[in-house]
Amino acid sequence: MKRHYLFFLVVSLLFSMSIVHGQERVSAIKIVPEPVNIQEKQGVFPLTSNVKIVNFSGSKEVGETAKLFSEQIALSTGINLKIVPVDGSENQTIKLMLNKKENQTIGKEGYTLSVTKSKIVITANKPAGIFYGLQTLTQLLPPEVSGKAKVNRLRWTVPCVEIKDYPRFGWRGLMLDVSRHFFSKEFVKRYIDQMSKYKLNTFHWHLTDNQGWRIEIKGLPELTTIGAWRVPRTGKFCTFESPAPGEKATDGGYYTQEDIKEVVLYAQKRFVNIVPEVDVPGHSKAFIVSYPDASCTGLQYSVNAGFMQDNDDLVLCAGNEDNFKKLEIIFSQIASLFPGKYIHVGGDEAWKDFWKKCPKCQQRMKDEGLKNEGELQSYFIKRIEKILLSKGKTLVGWDEILEGGLAPSAVVMSWRGSAGGIEAAQKGHEAVMSPNDFCYFNQPQGELAIERVYAGGSLIGVSKAYECEPVPEGVDAKYILGGQANLWSEFVASPRIAEYMTWPRALALSEVFWSPKAKRNWNDFAVRMEMQFPRFEKEGVNYAPSVYDPTIVPVKNENGEMELTFTTELKDLDVYYTFDCTFPDNYSPRYQQKPISIPKGASEVWVITYRKDKPIGRLLVMRLNDLKSRLK
Ligand code: ACM
Ligand code: ZN
Repeated sequence: MKRHYLFFLVVSLLFSMSIVHGQERVSAIKIVPEPVNIQEKQGVFPLTSNVKIVNFSGSKEVGETAKLFSEQIALSTGINLKIVPVDGSENQTIKLMLNKKENQTIGKEGYTLSVTKSKIVITANKPAGIFYGLQTLTQLLPPEVSGKAKVNRLRWTVPCVEIKDYPRFGWRGLMLDVSRHFFSKEFVKRYIDQMSKYKLNTFHWHLTDNQGWRIEIKGLPELTTIGAWRVPRTGKFCTFESPAPGEKATDGGYYTQEDIKEVVLYAQKRFVNIVPEVDVPGHSKAFIVSYPDASCTGLQYSVNAGFMQDNDDLVLCAGNEDNFKKLEIIFSQIASLFPGKYIHVGGDEAWKDFWKKCPKCQQRMKDEGLKNEGELQSYFIKRIEKILLSKGKTLVGWDEILEGGLAPSAVVMSWRGSAGGIEAAQKGHEAVMSPNDFCYFNQPQGELAIERVYAGGSLIGVSKAYECEPVPEGVDAKYILGGQANLWSEFVASPRIAEYMTWPRALALSEVFWSPKAKRNWNDFAVRMEMQFPRFEKEGVNYAPSVYDPTIVPVKNENGEMELTFTTELKDLDVYYTFDCTFPDNYSPRYQQKPISIPKGASEVWVITYRKDKPIGRLLVMRLNDLKSRLK
């Protein structure tokens, strides 16, 4: 009887600790993005100063990767992991090995990671895979290892596990707009470092726009002596006044070519490819201000301080041959500065009204037999394509480049939903999906009343971003290179806000772009996402806590009166509310998942979330009148 009881106890304990708990996987291992295959084992590998990293591959790149890992471990734990070549030791090692014979399944970026009580082995076909294996290994260690300061802890251990992992897509992108607000090269590096930890591998650098030119071009100094600077304005971008006559343009900045080389090298060490963007023929005000003849009107403007300025002409004149000469200089230098295959030429939102009125543009259309201004834009992009092809580069453009005829080798970046990507794939072109309903990180991720960020557009919470599907039904997946999130920076005035808008949504998209579609599971992801928050805190990354906050969706009852429903992205939160303008707590009415009617006299609703008996979200206060506009 006693033995039976003991047996039952042990079995039930093991069962509850290991595989399943209700429907959800309960595990100590929480990796983002979710690996393809994980087998958890018993026991741990102790990380001590006796452990050596053995660079079995002999590869210099692997050695550099090992160095990055060991430097971070030393910084946070004080443990110095020596990096050695093959030395015959087996126990207490982290072995980094490149496959002699390629493992077809894991491809260029995949890896296998084996952690036993005595050693850790990472194998890959290429150094990138070793890098990703080490990122996973970092997430197997406690969050303190991600920090900048040394933490005293008795034991650092890695749980035993066997992982096989490789990405779903080769393009896992994040775009930062450094034109609307300039971000220093130090911040750009930090941003790249952060994304690489979650296996994002493509940094799209939006370097030029109406609000500033950000890259030194030799032989065209005005682009940066003039085009990189605008009059200083602080506050709400939409409301900024145009420059006063004679006002000095002192706000802005640019990267020298030396800066660019430094960032490229930094990114290469983290296996991040940089896709530079010079946006033409629209979004070209900074170019046009530097060289007034570049526009159809030839007028002297100033670099935009805010959005539009007096309906200025923002588009390069397609009839002006000198523009193409300058663009040849610009794209040639870009091609030699950035080692990657892709160069982004923009192509979006080029307003054609000035082309319609411009004799030079109209002459060009006649000479080239172009039927309309859409075809003129296509002519423009095809000329840039020719320059890029001569340098061995592939052109990428926003989905407007489909209009008027797609350049033969172009890759389409689909932003106005997925339609552009679908059309490109149907035409046999490659596409990157960054639909603005899932991937636009300039849009708010929670109720603006709580977020208190200056942002526009519809709400894209982490859970919404997590629903992004880069391969729409009926599209041949071989044309979809991957996906990308975009952070436009009109309203992103500081590095802290850039981080806030990026994290944790970029975690969601890192999983969408890396992990198998079949493994996608919001509830499971949500737990793993939360495990990254302490890492962000240790690293000083300003992530948004918006997943803990409530959202209000008003509905109409059968009498046409407004009632309220509340939603939370995390399923285990309770929502409490008041209508009497007092602070709600867990003694206030709890939302029961049914629409609630509004008491007479109420003008505001105050809402808060709890997890068990602790408040967790931020207080939401909404005027009921403001909610009425949301009623369908
Ligand atoms: C874009 O958002 N104009 C690409
Ligand atoms: Zn023109």
